Amino acid sequence: MDYKSVWGAMEECQRLGLTKSIGVSNFSCKKLENIISIATIPPSVNQVEMNPPWQQQKLREFCKATNVIVTAFSPLGASGTKWGSNHVLDNETLKEIAKAHGKTVAQVCLRWSYEQGAPFVVKSFNKERMKQNLQIFDWELTEEDREKINQIPQRRFMLMEELISPNGPFKTLNDLWDNEL
Ligand SMILES: NC(=O)c1ccc[n+]([C@@H]2O[C@H](COP(=O)([O-])OP(=O)(O)OC[C@H]3O[C@@H](n4cnc5c(N)ncnc54)[C@H](OP(=O)(O)O)[C@@H]3O)[C@@H](O)[C@H]2O)c1
Repeated sequence: MDYKSVWGAMEECQRLGLTKSIGVSNFSCKKLENIISIATIPPSVNQVEMNPPWQQQKLREFCKATNVIVTAFSPLGASGTKWGSNHVLDNETLKEIAKAHGKTVAQVCLRWSYEQGAPFVVKSFNKERMKQNLQIFDWELTEEDREKINQIPQRRFMLMEELISPNGPFKTLNDLWDNEL
């Protein structure tokens, strides 16, 4: 994978005014470090899977230190899609916290992401759920809630095994994720 040429072309798009900002997605600390070392314009954002069962602590610390914004995709675990599951919305800790606040698990997840300073891209085709997903700004999680969420066992759910190929740039899952599994 020729990161230097691809990133150089993206920088050119920004210089030409074709885009305001350029960024990456699904980059590990190692891949991000590589891009930053060759970039004239560093990535403004890294969009990655992030939700309470996959909090991306290591990557977020690296991104904070290098001024890259982490954006959370699948903040609800992509329930009901062919690539996701209910592992986030069915989490017992999150259910308990949601019940105590009179909120939904989805709202707890989105509030948590917001409090972590991570913008999120949540998706719904349902008008009521879209409204619900916006109602996260007039309440907050408690310190105890945050501690409970920190204790949730961590697991990357979206392994993206379809990107692994003996003839491609990523021959194993460790090539793809640089051991951040
Ligand atoms: N960069 C990448 O590699 C990557 C990978 C995956 C996803 N993404 C992006 O991330 C964005 C969202 O991610 P996603 O769709 O994977 O996951 P998500 O937003 O975590 O989950 C979407 C699913 O949750 C349901 N949902 C939404 N709000 C809900 C609520 N309040 N209560 C219960 N269920 C709710 C939706 O169903 P309804 O529509 O029926 O409400 C939909 O099935 C998309 O823009 C996607 O393109 C990027």
